[in-house]
Amino acid sequence: MNINIITLFPEIFEALNYGLLGQAIDRADIKINIFNLRESKINKHGQVDDKPYGGGEGMVLMAEPLEKSLQDIPIDQLGRVINLSPQGKLLNQKKAKELSFLKNITIISGRYEGIDERFLSQYVDEEISIGDFILSGGEFAALALIDSFSRFIPNVIGNKKSVEEDSFSKGMLKGAVYSRPEIFNSERVPDELLSGNHALIKEWKDNQSLIRTYRRRPDLINNIKLTKKQKKLLEELTSKDIL
Ligand SMILES: C[S@@+](CC[C@H](N)C(=O)[O-])C[C@H]1O[C@@H](n2cnc3c(N)ncnc32)[C@H](O)[C@@H]1O
Repeated sequence: MNINIITLFPEIFEALNYGLLGQAIDRADIKINIFNLRESKINKHGQVDDKPYGGGEGMVLMAEPLEKSLQDIPIDQLGRVINLSPQGKLLNQKKAKELSFLKNITIISGRYEGIDERFLSQYVDEEISIGDFILSGGEFAALALIDSFSRFIPNVIGNKKSVEEDSFSKGMLKGAVYSRPEIFNSERVPDELLSGNHALIKEWKDNQSLIRTYRRRPDLINNIKLTKKQKKLLEELTSKDIL
């Protein structure tokens, strides 16, 4: 995948060069092209923002430098143009997977009070938010977005199964995980995980995933079709006041 990023802070994207994502960039499975918005300034003072019409707080990123920056990207490599914004559609695992199939993607990282609406309406295909909170800039949201969809790009995560079993991939949270030692501060790893019985282990993991989702994210439970067995387990645990 070819990822174009328009930003005032190119250095922040050096964070992409670590871990599995960094390895994917080294192998050229993912290509990152950074476009420094400051280079598309409208005057010798490096201006890319101005006061909002009608007054109000802060500054607004102007449409012209953003348009100029976008025009520096070869048209056949532009792909889908995404603006990170708290006013966009909330990012989720389904959206991350959908984006991972794109060959080219262009990500705008805003700053200040936001971006001139005319640039958004004329050039942006989609606005994405990473949560109902406000960051100082789109760079950190862009890093989160890139990391989330890259996990679905073939080869980025060596073990495909690990992505399939991640929380949200099947609509639920993944259950608890344990590693050595067997006993830590007198707390033992659950017997099922030490049993060596694959069917029992799978059943335990599936049940833990269901219980954890029910407790922590009941909203997710409403969006999935539970099997008879799963419904029965939840009914049993609720009747015993365990949930
Ligand atoms: C300080 S914010 C601007 C918020 C704007 N004044 C508002 O209330 O909607 C500056 C930039 O950070 C980015 N940003 C902030 N919160 C975000 C979020 N939750 N998701 C995605 N991007 C975000 C956007 O690029 C935004 O243009």
